[in-house]
Amino acid sequence: MRALVTDGQSSRWKVAEVPPPDIGSHEVLVEVAAAGLNHADLLMRQGRYLPTSADWNVPANRVGFEMAGRVRAVGPDVRGIAPGQFVMAQTGGACAELVAVDHQLLLPVPESVTANDAAGLPSALLTEYDALTARARIRPADRVLITGATSGVGLVGVQLARALGAGTVIATTRSAAKADLLRSLGAGHVIDTSATGVVEALGPDAYDVCLDHVGGAPFAELMGAAAPLARIVQIGRLAGDHAEIDLELLAARRLHLIGTTFRGRDAAELHTLVAHLRAALPGLLGEHHVRPVIDSVVDLTTAEDAAKRLTEPGLTGKVVLRIGRL
Ligand SMILES: NC(=O)c1ccc[n+]([C@@H]2O[C@H](COP(=O)([O-])OP(=O)(O)OC[C@H]3O[C@@H](n4cnc5c(N)ncnc54)[C@H](OP(=O)(O)O)[C@@H]3O)[C@@H](O)[C@H]2O)c1
Repeated sequence: MRALVTDGQSSRWKVAEVPPPDIGSHEVLVEVAAAGLNHADLLMRQGRYLPTSADWNVPANRVGFEMAGRVRAVGPDVRGIAPGQFVMAQTGGACAELVAVDHQLLLPVPESVTANDAAGLPSALLTEYDALTARARIRPADRVLITGATSGVGLVGVQLARALGAGTVIATTRSAAKADLLRSLGAGHVIDTSATGVVEALGPDAYDVCLDHVGGAPFAELMGAAAPLARIVQIGRLAGDHAEIDLELLAARRLHLIGTTFRGRDAAELHTLVAHLRAALPGLLGEHHVRPVIDSVVDLTTAEDAAKRLTEPGLTGKVVLRIGRL
């Protein structure tokens, strides 16, 4: 079968012929229709992100973290999943024609959702759903600030915050041209951080929950706009890994600063998260019509174009790699 791999010398991507995976007794073999690409794929390519092969049991040079496709075969201990079913999952080595996935990580996909949309959903849904529910414990009418909101995950975060009952969603972008998109997805207030700072735009006591995808120097400012007891979930570091924060403000407002990542989480924790999301999924995809924003769709054979697109300033949402037919 064909799989996208990182070339050890150049770190460029190439399509390689590799043996198909064996499936374990709790695994499902999925014929991949499409895979979503993420900022993490870019970091991995640049050697700035540790491969997750230990967690996902795929060779370290395999590319991809999420995919959608149809079940081809199921292991003997798998219940409730049958060949032919349309599924999606966050899983390692996703940019391949076939992947073996732990069945407790699979999410069922309604046939009304396209393969490209399904491929772009798992990482964003899991990240933002977990951040809003298990980490921030969102409450009805909470005011939610989402920084780097036009990132692939952030655009789903805006929709999820609304679906989970946020009173208002405040979104940041550095690109004024992307403000209308954020409003159309449910942001009540958009801040163009190329023109103004968050505190300048909002003042104090402006949000109860923050999903921060930006990190870096801008992180220092976020606390100035937080309400007392606000929960700030640090998810992404698009602007860098280091920030200087005002501990006096942290203490005075009794803020909760919460870090999160999927790296190193054990299987039981991931299974619990996926089970919660699976239960909420019909409402989120149906009534609330949560969908990824698709920036572009690229064929597996021209994956280098997709890698280039991930670095371009105009990028808005997910780059999807088309691999097979649904
Ligand atoms: N903790 C976790 O479990 C987890 C899971 C998934 C993703 N993440 C992280 O979340 C972040 C977003 O991931 P993604 O794959 O969705 O990203 P992405 O789609 O590649 O994000 C691209 C967008 O981010 C914004 N951006 C880029 N550099 C920026 C900077 N220096 N300052 C502010 N904004 C910047 C730009 O939007 P504008 O032009 O609108 O500013 C850009 O269009 C990444 O840091 C990723 O590693 C974490």
